[in-house]
Amino acid sequence: MSVCRKRANKRPIAESLTVNCAPICRSSVSSSIVDIASKWTEDYGSVFCVYFGPQLVVALNSVEVAYEAMTKSDMAGRPFVASLQLLSGGGNNIGQSQMGPKLRLHRKLATKALRYTLEDSDFQKIRKINDDIVFDYGNGMVEDIVPGLRHVYPTQKYRKTAQDIGFLQNFFGWQQLDLHKKNFTEGNITDFIDFMIQARKEAEKGGDPEEIEMLKDVYIVMDVVDLFTAGTDTTRSTLNWMIKYLSLYPDKQDKLRAEINAVIGRERLPLAADRTKLPYCESVMLETMRVRPPLPFALVHAATCDTKVGEYDIPKGAIIGLNVWTIHHNPKIWLNAEEFSPERFLTADEKLDPRPRSWLAFGTGTRVCLGENSAKTELITILACLIQNFRFRLPDGVKNLDMTPGGCAFVHTPLPYEVIIEKIN
Ligand code: HEM
Repeated sequence: MSVCRKRANKRPIAESLTVNCAPICRSSVSSSIVDIASKWTEDYGSVFCVYFGPQLVVALNSVEVAYEAMTKSDMAGRPFVASLQLLSGGGNNIGQSQMGPKLRLHRKLATKALRYTLEDSDFQKIRKINDDIVFDYGNGMVEDIVPGLRHVYPTQKYRKTAQDIGFLQNFFGWQQLDLHKKNFTEGNITDFIDFMIQARKEAEKGGDPEEIEMLKDVYIVMDVVDLFTAGTDTTRSTLNWMIKYLSLYPDKQDKLRAEINAVIGRERLPLAADRTKLPYCESVMLETMRVRPPLPFALVHAATCDTKVGEYDIPKGAIIGLNVWTIHHNPKIWLNAEEFSPERFLTADEKLDPRPRSWLAFGTGTRVCLGENSAKTELITILACLIQNFRFRLPDGVKNLDMTPGGCAFVHTPLPYEVIIEKIN
């Protein structure tokens, strides 16, 4: 692997500087890769590029280039990643779709559908499979660098992932779609699949063949799997980090509980509608996702044509990575950046500051996370329910917890830790 300095108004050229990629090639790469990305940002600035074999990857490391690039349709494509092609049934879900009318329609419908309360499904059964897929993808697959290999001599990891993904799509997508079609009653929308079936029925009534085509079964199934995979680990990891930080900072936990008790009391559980009345809860969520963003490099984009960011030329096909971690730890933007301080999001009179531009946990621009609003509401509601009813504290004698990110380079999760959970009566 080599790193190249970007030159103004020139195609990026790999220079002779070859970096030691050993730390990146370990099986768990989560903390080392963010350290390396931050070090390279110091050395090379807001845009640098890395070659993974023949593949050019451009890293965006400042707020300015992040907003410029992420709002350009030129850089709103998705790269061909063999393992993600498996997950999306060949690019048929929202996350892996290229820009175009189908993506626009599915983003619009899914955004509307997420406003419905989704009924509980068989989440637990497939959690383990989901964990395995994310871990294997997040730690890199040879097939993602050399896609042809999957046709000739697929690795064991790739074959297992293909099997897991097949199970997930079948169990969670196709079987559910069949069931929903059988039980569908016009106007009685109970979840995302019902919503999409209804949208297709309306398209059929409208008679637009292109719209009907864009809502065929395979796209609905892949969207279901996409929303499940996109929303599960990210939310779980954020909650996990929140509990870990709050166990370490009992004073902040008490402040949170005081807010919840003052606004909601102890007679009922917090609801989604309480979110706007809980600024400290929201600031705890924002700060957790700043200091430990669950997706430290967001989701990679692809340049769909020769384009530019800042003074740099980006060739068609380059992979574009948003370096959320480094932006969230930039000491010029965030005072004591490694410190957990939810107060930084509050004004002097304890109101929530508008979302700062440099907070990019859900990405920004054309491909910004589709579930941002529902994820935030869900996180705050669950956090408020937990803190209202339980106290999380370190075991006796334990003074500190290791906050090094674990998991994989794709989704950062906390390293295992022990806390005491006490029920509040
Ligand atoms: C803590 C929770 C979450 C975090 C941190 C998160 C973060 C992200 C990020 C960084 C991206 C990539 C943006 C880009 O490509 O520029 C993304 C995309 C996406 N997210 Fe989320 N997400 C979360 C929860 C959810 C939930 C709950 C859902 C849906 C139920 C969801 C659905 C999606 C989808 C469909 C995309 C792909 C959008 C596209 O390609 O156009 N996410 N998310």
